[in-house]
Amino acid sequence: MAKLALLAVLASLLGAVSGEFSIYAGYGFPPPNPSVPYPLPPACPPLSPAPGLKVGHYADKDKCPGAEEIVREVVEKATAGEKAGLIRLFFHDCFVEGCDGSVLLSGTDTERTAFPNLSLRGFELIEEAKAKLEKHCPGIVSCADIVAFAGRDASYSLSYGRINYRVPAGRYDGKVSRANDTFQNLPPPFGDLALTTAMFAAKGLNQNEMVVLSGAHSIGRSACSSFPDRLPPAANSSTAMEPKLAGQLTATCSAGSSVNVPQDAVTPDRLDNQYYKNVVSRDVLFNSDASLTTSSQTEDLVEFYAGNLPFLGGKFLGPLAWYHDFEDAMVKMGYIGVKTSAEGEIRKTCASINKP
Ligand code: HEM
Repeated sequence: MAKLALLAVLASLLGAVSGEFSIYAGYGFPPPNPSVPYPLPPACPPLSPAPGLKVGHYADKDKCPGAEEIVREVVEKATAGEKAGLIRLFFHDCFVEGCDGSVLLSGTDTERTAFPNLSLRGFELIEEAKAKLEKHCPGIVSCADIVAFAGRDASYSLSYGRINYRVPAGRYDGKVSRANDTFQNLPPPFGDLALTTAMFAAKGLNQNEMVVLSGAHSIGRSACSSFPDRLPPAANSSTAMEPKLAGQLTATCSAGSSVNVPQDAVTPDRLDNQYYKNVVSRDVLFNSDASLTTSSQTEDLVEFYAGNLPFLGGKFLGPLAWYHDFEDAMVKMGYIGVKTSAEGEIRKTCASINKP
């Protein structure tokens, strides 16, 4: 890991010296070199249910009955874009320091200030839910759990009720948030299948779960700065962006790298299996998306979820199976690095740790 951090520092220095923004440095990687593949992080054991978590944790009379409803009401009135942001927030929280609300902490050099997190949205909604919960039952509901509930509620809403799962809760909020920790923990959009798979495995999530969770790219937006490696599309590449989409994006993105474009041009606000159809037709923004067709195992799963394979591994009806698999994978992602009362606290506000 020390070697990787050093590479990251070198990469950012290179970016600074050349005066150019580098998405590679933004994710803590040096620019790609075809003859030296990125080193892969070691896999962790598969995640198992976190012992301190329980479905309905706050429902007990001495806890905070109604807590989940309060979060749901806040999420329901959010825009589709904010809901997409909430789902991504949960992923970015869990992958750095575990699902402990560390992504919410503001301040110098916190995770929030790191490049991949600059475009996160939904912080105000989490803070709004927290303020309501603190009035209703002070000091009981963790920010980490609010993020997990909000990710579920946003998924429910954007999938029109098809994604509907129960969230084991009882997480504690972390007290540490470092920008540098985002390096090498958040998968980069320019990553290939080996890198993306390894970065999920480093969190205890397997390759199928990575494919399932990537389906969240059927909603929300991306800045043009997140896929500079994809335009113009590489010649003779089986994963290059589909020329028509590439042409449209080249025109749109000529207005500036901060311009945002939908991730899924067909059903932009619907959390559905359209993502997998887009992967098949190469109408996806990132290399991490497009590279899901580069192994037969992941390609089969993509085709299954897209509805092009009638069955796979004893499962039928891929487009419907995806909703269920997404529910399971979101629950599992919520087990990453859960903190106990000894390691964490219940924050009073989500953007700062409690005063001693
Ligand atoms: C597989 C590896 C992944 C990579 C490389 C990746 C990368 C990215 C990038 C670069 C963006 C656009 C950021 C911007 O320019 O604003 C984005 C957006 C998004 N990602 Fe991912 N992501 C991955 C996995 C996930 C997962 C697991 C989830 C959730 C389950 C997720 C949910 C989202 C959502 C909902 C958006 C749109 C957010 C918005 O509209 O505000 N992503 N992702």
